[in-house]
Amino acid sequence: MTSKPDFSALSARHLRFGWGSLLVFVVLGGVLEAMHGFKVDWYLSFGSETQRLMWRLAHAHGTLLSLVHVAFAFTATRCSTEPRVASACFIGASVALPGGFLLGAFGGGGGDPGVGIALVPMGLLLMLVGVAACLRSLRP
Ligand code: HEM
Repeated sequence: MTSKPDFSALSARHLRFGWGSLLVFVVLGGVLEAMHGFKVDWYLSFGSETQRLMWRLAHAHGTLLSLVHVAFAFTATRCSTEPRVASACFIGASVALPGGFLLGAFGGGGGDPGVGIALVPMGLLLMLVGVAACLRSLRP
């Protein structure tokens, strides 16, 4: 009889990462909410739409990717091979996607985001490889 592989350490790492990063990005949501509440001109004024879009996208991608980590933690317990590639890719994407949007809020001009936005396509690539690697590790 073959024993079931145990990836509980990897799974626990993603649970911690996911809930920790959810805390960070929900706090960011609270900051955005406060800037609306206090009508902070720097955030809401005409001319800072790109900046505001970048903050909003960082918050949205950060929160949603945190939930991907929680889902992945449970998926990992059902994998036939250790999903190490997917694990590394999802952690990388969680830094590159919201990080790229956050950095893109600084240093741009004329409606364009700052150069930090270059991290976003890298995040997309990491996400695509991670999802494919996750599917591969789920093969019976
Ligand atoms: C799992 C939790 C959350 C998820 C998945 C989430 C997701 C999102 C998404 C997708 C948007 C963009 C909506 C759009 O542009 O149409 C957004 C915007 C926003 N969220 Fe969250 N959110 C979460 C929690 C929170 C919390 C706890 C707060 C704080 C009270 C918050 C405050 C905001 C604010 C203020 C905006 C609009 C920002 C702006 O347009 O200036 N979010 N959120």
